[in-house]
Amino acid sequence: MKALVLSGGSGTRLRPFSYSMPKQLIPIANKPVLEHVLENIKALGVTEIGIIVGDRAPQIQAVIGDGSALGVRITYIPQEEPLGLAHCVAIARPFLGDDDFVMYLGDNMLPEGVGQIADEFTAGRPAAQVVVHKVSDPRAFGVAELDADGRVERLVEKPQEPKSDLALIGVYFFTPAIHRAVDAIEPSPRGELEITDAIQWLVTNGDEVKASEYEGYWKDTGRVEDVLECNRKLLDDLEPSTAGEVDATSTLIGTVVVEAGAKVVGSRIVGPAVIGAGTVVTDSHIGPHTSIGKDVVLTGTSIEYSIALDGATVSHVRGLRSSIIGRSASVGPSDQSPRHHRLVVGDHTRVEVAA
Ligand code: TTP
Repeated sequence: MKALVLSGGSGTRLRPFSYSMPKQLIPIANKPVLEHVLENIKALGVTEIGIIVGDRAPQIQAVIGDGSALGVRITYIPQEEPLGLAHCVAIARPFLGDDDFVMYLGDNMLPEGVGQIADEFTAGRPAAQVVVHKVSDPRAFGVAELDADGRVERLVEKPQEPKSDLALIGVYFFTPAIHRAVDAIEPSPRGELEITDAIQWLVTNGDEVKASEYEGYWKDTGRVEDVLECNRKLLDDLEPSTAGEVDATSTLIGTVVVEAGAKVVGSRIVGPAVIGAGTVVTDSHIGPHTSIGKDVVLTGTSIEYSIALDGATVSHVRGLRSSIIGRSASVGPSDQSPRHHRLVVGDHTRVEVAA
């Protein structure tokens, strides 16, 4: 079996971060989402992986490379425009050949893994096996209607009156039968080749399509709130370690990781929290549920339930919560007037201040 990971797309819901980085590289517990995805695929014993990349390809290649560091072999497949999930399958055809494959959305987190579902697919080899997850409001999702044996009878995109609460989530198993379906469908009203249309085509044409429920934690990390929530969830499973320096006036409480080369001075860190390599934390309160990236400088600051990306600087700001601070962004007092706020805020940025 091969794998196809979708890491193109436009990422409009994750602005402003997606203006400068592919959303699949946003860190969760200090590791890019895409790396979590590749590790999950490797855990299935699948090492031949094609990654669909858009115009942010160079950043993805710089982080993932040829995959050897993760023990996998990566083939990059460029997609000129995000023309839909089924379009990704079409352009990956030379890579996929006539092999079965798992298609995995590069921004989806399923930390409990899909090993059991992969085994069911390999044993039964239906034309397609979709992964579904119970959601409270199915109206926002592609929904699968199943018969008593878990066969898909119908897929409905964002139903107004859902007949099932089983949403399709970001992992699909396919035999080469999917290629006939992808060739047969037309773009949807939004101009994309939809994978749900291709799977529905299989159902309509009498091919077997099965669904398996993933009961673990699942998150599509497409929006800021989802990234923060997922970060909290993953930090809960952190293993503590202190490779960096923590001075005698600092306290670490609970599960805390201080990576090599990080320095903590006169500060209190409440886990779960991770402090990245090369970061300097001085006179600050960090955590809980906070990830601080590499080479960050935090001074006289308190921050909780948040993520600071690499190279950020935050000084003398108390009460930061549920925040994401971008790469090399700087937050702190104004040099020009201590009584005024001065904002240099990029497009689609959100700043919420205590009234
Ligand atoms: P989405 O999150 O559905 O789409 P998007 O990236 O355009 O995001 P937004 O809605 O915020 O604008 O895509 C799911 C995954 O599939 C994501 O990792 C991007 C990837 N993708 C592609 O690689 N090619 C495509 O043509 C599309 C539509 C998505």
